[in-house]
Amino acid sequence: MEQKNLATVLRGEHKALVEEITKIKELANQQEVKAEDVLSELVNFKTALLAHLELEDKEFYPALLEKMEEKGKEIEKTKEFIGKMAGIASQVSAFLETYSNAERIADNVDHFRENLDKIISILGIRVEAEEDFVLTDWEYLMM
Ligand SMILES: [Fe+2]
Repeated sequence: MEQKNLATVLRGEHKALVEEITKIKELANQQEVKAEDVLSELVNFKTALLAHLELEDKEFYPALLEKMEEKGKEIEKTKEFIGKMAGIASQVSAFLETYSNAERIADNVDHFRENLDKIISILGIRVEAEEDFVLTDWEYLMM
């Protein structure tokens, strides 16, 4: 991927991921929850998320650190930030692992809804933090 497009692509993927998980919330909030439908959307979400994390963690973050070093910027805080983002990603992965079959969702829908809300909020934190901090830094460095 061309480096100058990276931030635009990542912002677009954030938007798509948030839309996808919002759709899951709508499905999960119906009176008669169809666990199979929820699961199939979760699987789509997981695929999109893994592709996004791969691009971010394997391409974007290393390129950002390299570019910062090239320009003589302090990278410690950014490294710390990347570590925090990894922690968020593993919480989301644990959630997806927990709900990897329809029975788990159907067995306790209320619990699923609660966990989903938590995941939506921490995913929102990652997206917002990345957009305000590292993606903005990147765009500035690429100017
Ligand atoms: Fe991201």
